[in-house]
Amino acid sequence: MGSLGQATLLAVAIVCSCFLQTQAQGDTIPITLIPPNPIQGESITLRPEGVPENLFSCSWFRAATTDSSQRIVTYYPSNPNASLKGPAYTWRETVNPDCSLLISNLSANYSGNYTTQWSGIGIEQTGTTSFSVSVPISDMNITASTNKSIENSITVLNCTSKGSGVSYYWLKDNKNLTVGGPILLSNNNQILTFNTTNRNDSGLYTCCGYNAVSNGNTSFKLDVLYGPDDTVISPSTEYYPLGDSLTLTCSAESNPAAQYTWFVNGTHEVGKGTQYLIPALSFQDSGNYTCRAFNTETNLTSTSSVVVQVQENVTNVVISGPHEVTEGAFVTLNCTSSGSEVSYSWWKGMQQSANHPLDSGNQLN
Ligand SMILES: *[C@@H]1O[C@H](CO)[C@@H](O)[C@H](O)[C@H]1NC(C)=O
Ligand SMILES: *[C@@H]1O[C@H](CO)[C@@H](O)[C@H](O)[C@H]1NC(C)=O
Ligand SMILES: *[C@@H]1O[C@H](CO)[C@@H](O)[C@H](O)[C@H]1NC(C)=O
Ligand SMILES: *[C@@H]1O[C@H](CO)[C@@H](O)[C@H](O)[C@H]1NC(C)=O
Ligand SMILES: *[C@@H]1O[C@H](CO)[C@@H](O)[C@H](O)[C@H]1NC(C)=O
Ligand SMILES: *[C@@H]1O[C@H](CO)[C@@H](O)[C@H](O)[C@H]1NC(C)=O
Ligand SMILES: *[C@@H]1O[C@H](CO)[C@@H](O)[C@H](O)[C@H]1NC(C)=O
Ligand SMILES: *[C@@H]1O[C@H](CO)[C@@H](O)[C@H](O)[C@H]1NC(C)=O
Ligand SMILES: *[C@@H]1O[C@H](CO)[C@@H](O)[C@H](O)[C@H]1NC(C)=O
Ligand SMILES: *[C@@H]1O[C@H](CO)[C@@H](O)[C@H](O)[C@H]1NC(C)=O
Ligand SMILES: *[C@@H]1O[C@H](CO)[C@@H](O)[C@H](O)[C@H]1NC(C)=O
Ligand SMILES: *[C@@H]1O[C@H](CO)[C@@H](O)[C@H](O)[C@H]1NC(C)=O
Repeated sequence: MGSLGQATLLAVAIVCSCFLQTQAQGDTIPITLIPPNPIQGESITLRPEGVPENLFSCSWFRAATTDSSQRIVTYYPSNPNASLKGPAYTWRETVNPDCSLLISNLSANYSGNYTTQWSGIGIEQTGTTSFSVSVPISDMNITASTNKSIENSITVLNCTSKGSGVSYYWLKDNKNLTVGGPILLSNNNQILTFNTTNRNDSGLYTCCGYNAVSNGNTSFKLDVLYGPDDTVISPSTEYYPLGDSLTLTCSAESNPAAQYTWFVNGTHEVGKGTQYLIPALSFQDSGNYTCRAFNTETNLTSTSSVVVQVQENVTNVVISGPHEVTEGAFVTLNCTSSGSEVSYSWWKGMQQSANHPLDSGNQLN
């Protein structure tokens, strides 16, 4: 530091003692950033501390050095109108009378090193600072590897945002997402991978992001398609009385809901829908009823069958045989009834529940 600079220093030190401290540290100019964490679109002031009064010029460079190709501006405190713009000037920079540099409407590419240089009689000093422009989070978006996730397939959700230094975490149905097993987070938590999906993974996934200046989130509804699982027809009863009404109901776990088609005796299609109704059973309604469940998204089918036998109610049960029987003679008792496909059992006495039948068939010898 030259003698003139020291003289100035002493003069000003009486007014400001902090100035003395900063200058006492050597030839490097301390620079204060206002604000310290600038935001995109806003402005920053780079204020050098302890500007000497007899300064001839101050220059600013967008670099850690005084490389002339990176010069933004040279300012003459005694003649501001003579300020010289350099190659790195972008119309957003203004030098104030105190040699501070104001940069307005910041964008991310203004982040980096800035150097100021002072010149004057006996003054030759530089100082360097740097800052990073924070870009607030915006345009958060989740893109999925597939529009429709079918169970047991790999699904990847990719969370992106415009924003600098963003940290990410995820919620499932507004609760913290537990990862592990087939659910993996990678790439700074931006990539959520299901290797592979399970139907329980369906839900609302929220990607949350935050950085020094903002936070944001976005959600994605994951619908895992599956099924149809095993098809069940109810009731599973085989025999039905003639004339009764019969409603067969078919169901299968499926997402989306399965489409049901009914067939009789193999391939003869008789109806669609979860229920098949026969208002009054006739003998011709007997048959093998098949329900086929089809999922239009997974293209999977599942089928199940029940056999329906329509029978006339057993009525008019009559035992016929000889009225008088000689001991030792061969006797045949006939049992008859109205009804179809009737099976017969014989008991002695009324002990049907206690004993095995004596015989079966419509004749007892
Ligand atoms: C600087 O220029 C402005 C107009 O451009 C003028 O009004 C002002 O007097 C000038 N200042 C000096 C110190 O020349
Ligand atoms: C600020 O800069 C952006 C580009 O970084 C530009 O689109 C916008 O018009 C500028 N705004 C102002 C007020 O200069
Ligand atoms: C700032 O300068 C330092 C030292 O020269 C260098 O390591 C760093 O990469 C520079 N930063 C930027 C953003 O250019
Ligand atoms: C999210 O990204 C998709 C695909 O790139 C795009 O179609 C969609 O418009 C984006 N949504 C938002 C809110 O940016
Ligand atoms: C996530 O999305 C970003 C932006 O679209 C893209 O650059 C990146 O490659 C994607 N990552 C994966 C794993 O898909
Ligand atoms: C959810 O995660 C956040 C951030 O990791 C944590 O602060 C919070 O305590 C967690 N909440 C629950 C209920 O675990
Ligand atoms: C999925 O998991 C299987 C077995 O755990 C592994 O072999 C495979 O590399 C994984 N795939 C991806 C894309 O992570
Ligand atoms: C009923 O029909 C289905 C389909 O044709 C067949 O698989 C099944 O064996 C049949 N059941 C009976 C008892 O005949
Ligand atoms: C199914 O087949 C049986 C035997 O061939 C027949 O008696 C019955 O009428 C058929 N059922 C229907 C509904 O066609
Ligand atoms: C289901 O079948 C349709 C028509 O053949 C086809 O376009 C679609 O890709 C199939 N879906 C799956 C998951 O295989
Ligand atoms: C056949 O018997 C069942 C049960 O005993 C009864 O509900 C039904 O009404 C009877 N059907 C006829 C046609 O009598
Ligand atoms: C019993 O039925 C048989 C034929 O099923 C017939 O031949 C016989 O005469 C009948 N007996 C009586 C006593 O009705």
